[in-house]
Amino acid sequence: MQPHDEHPHVPGPSVWPVGFAIGVVVLLVGLIVSWYVAALGAVIALVFGFLWVRDLTRGTALAHAPEVEPEVATGTAPPADEAPPAEPPAERYPRSKFLEASTLGLGVVIGGLVTAPALGFMVAPAFLKQGSKDHDLGPISDFPEGKFVIATWMTDRSQGEVSRRTAFVRYNGPLGKLPSFTIISNHCAHLGCPVQPNGPLDNKNTKQLADVTLIPTVSIAGFGCPCHGGQYDTEGNRTAGPPVRALDRYAFSIRNGRLFVGKPFSVSHVDGTGSTAKIHKWTLAFPGEHVNGLESWLYPIQPPH
Ligand code: FES
Repeated sequence: MQPHDEHPHVPGPSVWPVGFAIGVVVLLVGLIVSWYVAALGAVIALVFGFLWVRDLTRGTALAHAPEVEPEVATGTAPPADEAPPAEPPAERYPRSKFLEASTLGLGVVIGGLVTAPALGFMVAPAFLKQGSKDHDLGPISDFPEGKFVIATWMTDRSQGEVSRRTAFVRYNGPLGKLPSFTIISNHCAHLGCPVQPNGPLDNKNTKQLADVTLIPTVSIAGFGCPCHGGQYDTEGNRTAGPPVRALDRYAFSIRNGRLFVGKPFSVSHVDGTGSTAKIHKWTLAFPGEHVNGLESWLYPIQPPH
């Protein structure tokens, strides 16, 4: 008679779950910090997850491997009329395994239902390129050289006025064979209030083209923020008050003699003026966020936007 196995086979301790957990953590941090870190986390989680599952399935296979009864030669044959003891019916799918699988499955379903919407809202905007389409501001002849024009436009007409953006556009004259423009955002670099031009406007010559409005200025000495007194010069450099950097700018392109405004970007400061200005560019940052220097390291990590 076989002695009863008091110690059922279970997989031994393994480091794969630890590696898998580290991979998931790196992946989640990467979603906030950088796509490269997220990709690294995904790879770590996949590799360790694979090794973990392989270990588990091996252990299960060993546990269910049929045991070979050793043949024992006793020398005495059982009496012909003595029937061998009836074998208990084999359990086709152990109840413990069923409970384990259903608990895990339920956990995965609930986890997916909770995580998927949050993950979707977090990641989808990066792929939808919201508000990043170039917008036609009209013929470049509508922008007199050396003067700022206040341009407003809707990034998405279906959303209406809530999608309206404002920028200060100045034609700097030609640079080589191409026209040069300075397009400064009106979002204050302190807390995002709308900054105003420091000078009179030429309201009589306002132009309205579809969803674009162009209001020329007469002559301005910079920009000022009504909220906390932030001041900027005509290149958008901070000159006074609490703003932490220069005003953001917009990229632009010229197509068939028309000016198209593109994606916004942040600026730490600008050296020089007009078409020959050297713009110190950074990826778009939130108002109040330093983009360079020691302060930028002391600020909390910002989500991608
Ligand atoms: S929001 Fe402009 S100075 Fe504070």
